[in-house]
Amino acid sequence: MGTAPIAIALDSREIEVLREWVAQTREIASTLKIGLETFYRHGEQAIHLVRESGCDLFLDVKLHDIPNTVAGAAAALARYSPKYLTVHASGGPEMVRAACVALPETFVTAVTVLTSLDDQTLREVGICTPAQETVVRQAASAVEAGARAIVCSPHEVGRVRSEVGGDIVLITPGVRPAGTSADDQKRVMTPVQALTAGADLLVIGRPITGAANIYSAALAIAREIDPI
Ligand code: C5P
Repeated sequence: MGTAPIAIALDSREIEVLREWVAQTREIASTLKIGLETFYRHGEQAIHLVRESGCDLFLDVKLHDIPNTVAGAAAALARYSPKYLTVHASGGPEMVRAACVALPETFVTAVTVLTSLDDQTLREVGICTPAQETVVRQAASAVEAGARAIVCSPHEVGRVRSEVGGDIVLITPGVRPAGTSADDQKRVMTPVQALTAGADLLVIGRPITGAANIYSAALAIAREIDPI
């Protein structure tokens, strides 16, 4: 297990590719993240890879349903002992609380407004509050309900920190080292900027997993943020 506050996004179709990424990054990053694609394709096999690595398991399955169903789903995932498990904050406080009760050892992590949504898209689905304000409201509500971590964009992390205080783990995707491609992420910050803004853990995928030398790419980011 590494010490850099990075969660490597293990998003791939191939289990052999995932195995290689884990081998290349396990001594650098503190955390490995399994999202929906990898979980649905490789389930327990992928989780086993992370558990064997010694890194923290971040299970990013974004639960969103009625509280009773989320409680059941969270209880079913308890056997993997994830350090972090994501739920959608928009599911409401009762749903977030149900996940927290089902998994008391896990940092139930509330995902606020997805970084792929902007104010116009939110209006299209009937949410007329600006995205930034919605993020802060959802973070406060989820923390009140027992969430111990929040996912938000680096651009909102400062406001969320002021709202929820210092004990909550703030996790930010949308992180790109200077000079690398933003891919489909719209509003990005560099790792140093995101940490300086108040993030505790940076979710980084393609800038590392898409690099010609994965180990070197991860190490370069870890060194860049080390003094912070
Ligand atoms: O490759 P990249 O660094 O863009 O990967 C970002 C990861 O963070 C992906 O696994 C993506 O699903 C996840 N994520 C995100 N934006 C959010 C929540 C999660 O990019 N708002």
